[in-house]
Amino acid sequence: MIDLHAHVLPGLDDGAADETAALALCRLALEDGIRTLVATPHLYGGLGVADPRMIPAAAERLRQRLREERIDLDLRWAAEMPVLENVVELYCTGIWPAYDVQRRYVLLEMAPLVNGLAILKETVFRLRLEGAVPVLAHPERLDFLDRLADVEGLRNQGAVLQITAACLLAPGSSSCRRATEWVHRGWVQVVASDAHDPVRRPPRMAAARRWLAEREGEACAADLTEGNPGKILAGEPL
Ligand SMILES: [Fe+2]
Repeated sequence: MIDLHAHVLPGLDDGAADETAALALCRLALEDGIRTLVATPHLYGGLGVADPRMIPAAAERLRQRLREERIDLDLRWAAEMPVLENVVELYCTGIWPAYDVQRRYVLLEMAPLVNGLAILKETVFRLRLEGAVPVLAHPERLDFLDRLADVEGLRNQGAVLQITAACLLAPGSSSCRRATEWVHRGWVQVVASDAHDPVRRPPRMAAARRWLAEREGEACAADLTEGNPGKILAGEPL
């Protein structure tokens, strides 16, 4: 599987605290069936966020440690950006790292604000004008996306829905209810782990993939955990 969302670079954000935790998280990811893991540190917008200039060297250092420890994981990097006033500038100037070399796909996180829908739609619109394809991190958490028409509208604008694996495995939550409905409608393109550390928030991709295969079929499970994430890393249309 390809996991497009993990806070694995040590000490950069609220994810893996140090190199030991990062290596443990990488081992868990490999055991969980993940072959390619994308480190997506939080940028801006609060405490525990990474300086984007630190990401490439941190990723290279962790790659080196993976080779030394013989952990056969393909580590890539991008970043998780909150919706900010200047988010389009951060995209256009290249400060916001993308998933692909063509710089089409970027990971965008929205806060659960009361007027969040209007802000999110406006941000997606402005990013699309610049040629970016925003991949929405865990949109299922957003109560303001309860109306299916609003979610469909965001999809029609060109946003990609990336849901978190663990939420599919937490029945009863409103996040799970929304994610289940969207997956069933074929609206979700990616399932990712959003793993933060080996204990509190480990990757749960294998269990989520089984959940998808049982309910929606093997083809859907493969698309959401391998096929579409692979296209995003290659900068190809979904
Ligand atoms: Fe995240």
